[in-house]
Amino acid sequence: MNTNRILAVGSIVAVALSVPFLGPTWNRMMHLLGAVMFLGNILVTAVWAGLARRNRDPEAARFCVHGILLTDAVFTLPGVMLLFINGSILGTAWFKAHAPWIFVSMGLFAVTGIVWGAVLVPLQKKLLRLVDAMPRGGPLPSEFDVLFAKWFRWGGIATLLPLVTFVLMVIRPVF
Ligand code: HEM
Repeated sequence: MNTNRILAVGSIVAVALSVPFLGPTWNRMMHLLGAVMFLGNILVTAVWAGLARRNRDPEAARFCVHGILLTDAVFTLPGVMLLFINGSILGTAWFKAHAPWIFVSMGLFAVTGIVWGAVLVPLQKKLLRLVDAMPRGGPLPSEFDVLFAKWFRWGGIATLLPLVTFVLMVIRPVF
């Protein structure tokens, strides 16, 4: 199955799993499943992409970039959808009560989405073009290191922000 088809299937499954008539406990469970998929994938990706970067094997780099796009389609996007849809359903009372933690969390989540859509996805597409154009066995183009370093910097921001959101969701501070 290609990445676009996985994205389409994953999105449909995430929407179907968020149907509100199954009750708030279900939506809470789906929101938490989204947090596990989303946070789990971005944290684990940082580790194995870091290993591939240190390894410097061109074929490991090619495998790594393809893996990043695949795991984004399987885990990150459906996870984001589960978080957003179920969080919005569960949040109705908190929105009405103007609870600051929920608005700050949504703001951080939106900034994460902007970083992901405006910086990380275009970078990943450039990296994919580079590794696909590379001859079997390399060498790795010099531009690869520059783009991959940038991907790590922005990826770090896109990982820290949801971690802060996670803390806010659990602590629900009053400020
Ligand atoms: C649009 C963004 C989001 C909205 C509107 C939202 C909304 C909510 C709401 C209303 C609850 C309370 C649910 C209840 O107890 O009935 C909740 C809980 C939770 N959310 Fe979110 N959320 C969002 C994003 C996130 C993100 C990005 C994460 C983590 C990466 C996250 C992790 C959690 C966790 C772990 C809980 C459970 C907290 C606990 O029960 O102690 N949420 N969320």
